[in-house]
Amino acid sequence: MLSENMQNALNGQINKEIYSSYLYMAMSMYFESEDLSGAASWMKTQALEELAHADKFMRYVNERGGRVVLEALGKPDSSWDVPLDAFDGALKHERFISASINDLVTLAREEKDFMSDNFLQWFVAEQVEEEASVSEVLRMFKLAGGAGGGLLMIDRELGSRVFTPPAAE
Ligand code: FEO
Repeated sequence: MLSENMQNALNGQINKEIYSSYLYMAMSMYFESEDLSGAASWMKTQALEELAHADKFMRYVNERGGRVVLEALGKPDSSWDVPLDAFDGALKHERFISASINDLVTLAREEKDFMSDNFLQWFVAEQVEEEASVSEVLRMFKLAGGAGGGLLMIDRELGSRVFTPPAAE
Protein backbone atom coordinates (compact mmCIF):
# COMPACT_ATOMS: atom_id res chain seq x y z
CA MET A 1 0.00 0.00 0.00
CA LEU A 2 1.28 3.47 -0.87
CA SER A 3 1.63 6.05 1.89
CA GLU A 4 -0.62 9.07 1.51
CA ASN A 5 2.45 11.22 1.01
CA MET A 6 3.77 9.05 -1.80
CA GLN A 7 0.34 8.75 -3.40
CA ASN A 8 -0.02 12.55 -3.46
CA ALA A 9 3.47 12.97 -4.88
CA LEU A 10 2.79 10.38 -7.62
CA ASN A 11 -0.50 12.09 -8.46
CA GLY A 12 1.45 15.35 -8.76
CA GLN A 13 3.84 13.66 -11.18
CA ILE A 14 0.92 12.30 -13.25
CA ASN A 15 -0.28 15.89 -13.63
CA LYS A 16 3.21 17.00 -14.70
CA GLU A 17 3.47 14.22 -17.30
CA ILE A 18 0.05 15.04 -18.79
CA TYR A 19 0.94 18.74 -18.71
CA SER A 20 4.15 17.85 -20.59
CA SER A 21 2.01 16.25 -23.28
CA TYR A 22 -0.17 19.37 -23.42
CA LEU A 23 2.91 21.62 -23.70
CA TYR A 24 4.46 19.52 -26.47
CA MET A 25 1.14 19.43 -28.35
CA ALA A 26 1.11 23.26 -28.17
CA MET A 27 4.66 23.27 -29.57
CA SER A 28 3.63 20.83 -32.30
CA MET A 29 0.81 23.18 -33.36
CA TYR A 30 3.24 26.12 -33.33
CA PHE A 31 5.62 24.26 -35.67
CA GLU A 32 2.72 23.33 -37.93
CA SER A 33 1.76 27.01 -38.19
CA GLU A 34 5.39 27.73 -39.17
CA ASP A 35 5.24 25.09 -41.95
CA LEU A 36 7.79 22.92 -40.14
CA SER A 37 5.93 19.63 -40.49
CA GLY A 38 8.91 17.52 -39.35
CA ALA A 39 9.32 19.42 -36.07
CA ALA A 40 5.52 19.34 -35.63
CA SER A 41 5.54 15.56 -36.02
CA TRP A 42 8.54 15.19 -33.65
CA MET A 43 6.71 17.18 -30.97
CA LYS A 44 3.48 15.26 -31.48
CA THR A 45 5.43 12.04 -30.96
CA GLN A 46 6.89 13.57 -27.79
CA ALA A 47 3.37 14.47 -26.62
CA LEU A 48 2.27 10.83 -27.09
CA GLU A 49 5.33 9.64 -25.18
CA GLU A 50 4.40 11.88 -22.25
CA LEU A 51 0.92 10.38 -22.13
CA ALA A 52 2.56 6.95 -22.04
CA HIS A 53 4.67 8.15 -19.08
CA ALA A 54 1.51 9.33 -17.29
CA ASP A 55 -0.12 5.98 -18.02
CA LYS A 56 2.83 4.14 -16.51
CA PHE A 57 2.50 6.18 -13.31
CA MET A 58 -1.28 5.68 -13.20
CA ARG A 59 -0.98 1.90 -13.58
CA TYR A 60 1.64 1.84 -10.82
CA VAL A 61 -0.55 3.80 -8.37
CA ASN A 62 -3.42 1.39 -9.03
CA GLU A 63 -1.21 -1.68 -8.73
CA ARG A 64 -0.10 -0.49 -5.30
CA GLY A 65 -3.70 -0.11 -4.14
CA GLY A 66 -3.63 3.68 -4.39
CA ARG A 67 -6.07 6.12 -5.91
CA VAL A 68 -5.32 8.19 -9.00
CA VAL A 69 -6.72 11.72 -8.72
CA LEU A 70 -6.44 13.88 -11.82
CA GLU A 71 -6.04 17.60 -11.25
CA ALA A 72 -6.56 20.62 -13.52
CA LEU A 73 -3.90 21.31 -16.15
CA GLY A 74 -2.08 24.62 -16.43
CA LYS A 75 -2.15 26.65 -19.63
CA PRO A 76 0.94 25.78 -21.68
CA ASP A 77 3.28 28.48 -22.98
CA SER A 78 2.76 29.60 -26.57
CA SER A 79 5.02 32.64 -26.80
CA TRP A 80 7.75 31.29 -29.08
CA ASP A 81 9.16 33.73 -31.63
CA VAL A 82 11.43 31.28 -33.44
CA PRO A 83 11.61 27.44 -33.54
CA LEU A 84 14.71 27.45 -31.36
CA ASP A 85 12.73 29.09 -28.52
CA ALA A 86 10.32 26.15 -28.37
CA PHE A 87 13.11 23.56 -28.15
CA ASP A 88 14.85 25.74 -25.57
CA GLY A 89 11.60 25.69 -23.56
CA ALA A 90 11.36 21.92 -24.01
CA LEU A 91 14.87 21.42 -22.60
CA LYS A 92 14.11 23.62 -19.58
CA HIS A 93 10.91 21.66 -19.04
CA GLU A 94 12.69 18.29 -19.23
CA ARG A 95 15.21 19.49 -16.64
CA PHE A 96 12.30 20.45 -14.40
CA ILE A 97 10.80 16.97 -14.87
CA SER A 98 14.15 15.33 -14.06
CA ALA A 99 14.31 17.32 -10.81
CA SER A 100 10.76 16.25 -10.00
CA ILE A 101 11.62 12.56 -10.55
CA ASN A 102 14.68 13.00 -8.32
CA ASP A 103 12.42 14.43 -5.59
CA LEU A 104 10.17 11.37 -5.87
CA VAL A 105 13.16 9.04 -5.48
CA THR A 106 14.28 11.03 -2.43
CA LEU A 107 10.82 10.69 -0.89
CA ALA A 108 10.68 6.95 -1.64
CA ARG A 109 14.03 6.47 0.10
CA GLU A 110 13.02 8.61 3.08
CA GLU A 111 9.91 6.47 3.47
CA LYS A 112 11.81 3.21 2.83
CA ASP A 113 9.34 2.57 -0.01
CA PHE A 114 11.71 0.40 -2.05
CA MET A 115 8.99 -0.67 -4.49
CA SER A 116 8.47 2.95 -5.53
CA ASP A 117 12.23 3.53 -5.56
CA ASN A 118 12.63 0.57 -7.93
CA PHE A 119 9.70 1.68 -10.12
CA LEU A 120 11.10 5.22 -10.38
CA GLN A 121 14.49 4.04 -11.62
CA TRP A 122 12.93 3.50 -15.08
CA PHE A 123 12.13 7.22 -15.13
CA VAL A 124 15.59 8.19 -13.86
CA ALA A 125 17.09 6.42 -16.89
CA GLU A 126 14.38 7.76 -19.22
CA GLN A 127 15.15 11.35 -18.20
CA VAL A 128 18.76 10.93 -19.36
CA GLU A 129 17.37 10.13 -22.83
CA GLU A 130 14.70 12.84 -22.68
CA GLU A 131 17.21 15.58 -21.93
CA ALA A 132 19.73 14.23 -24.46
CA SER A 133 17.27 14.02 -27.36
CA VAL A 134 15.94 17.56 -26.85
CA SER A 135 19.51 18.88 -26.42
CA GLU A 136 20.53 17.24 -29.69
CA VAL A 137 17.70 18.93 -31.62
CA LEU A 138 18.47 22.24 -29.93
CA ARG A 139 22.12 21.93 -31.04
CA MET A 140 21.01 21.24 -34.61
CA PHE A 141 18.78 24.33 -34.62
CA LYS A 142 21.62 26.46 -33.24
CA LEU A 143 24.00 25.16 -35.93
CA ALA A 144 21.45 25.93 -38.66
CA GLY A 145 21.18 29.50 -37.41
CA GLY A 146 17.39 29.41 -37.48
CA ALA A 147 16.77 29.83 -41.22
CA GLY A 148 17.32 28.67 -44.79
CA GLY A 149 18.21 25.26 -46.21
CA GLY A 150 19.74 24.07 -42.92
CA LEU A 151 16.43 24.51 -41.17
CA LEU A 152 14.59 22.55 -43.86
CA MET A 153 17.12 19.71 -43.63
CA ILE A 154 16.68 19.52 -39.86
CA ASP A 155 12.91 19.56 -40.30
CA ARG A 156 13.07 16.63 -42.72
CA GLU A 157 15.26 14.70 -40.27
CA LEU A 158 12.89 15.40 -37.34
CA GLY A 159 9.97 14.11 -39.38
CA SER A 160 11.45 10.60 -39.40
CA ARG A 161 10.86 10.06 -35.67
CA VAL A 162 8.17 7.49 -34.87
CA PHE A 163 6.34 6.81 -31.62
CA THR A 164 7.39 3.63 -29.83
CA PRO A 165 5.35 2.93 -26.70
CA PRO A 166 7.50 2.14 -23.66
CA ALA A 167 7.63 -1.61 -22.95
CA ALA A 168 4.91 -2.72 -20.54
CA GLU A 169 6.43 -4.05 -17.32
FE1 FEO B 1 7.91 12.32 -19.15
FE2 FEO B 1 9.63 14.08 -20.96
O1 FEO B 1 9.30 13.45 -19.30
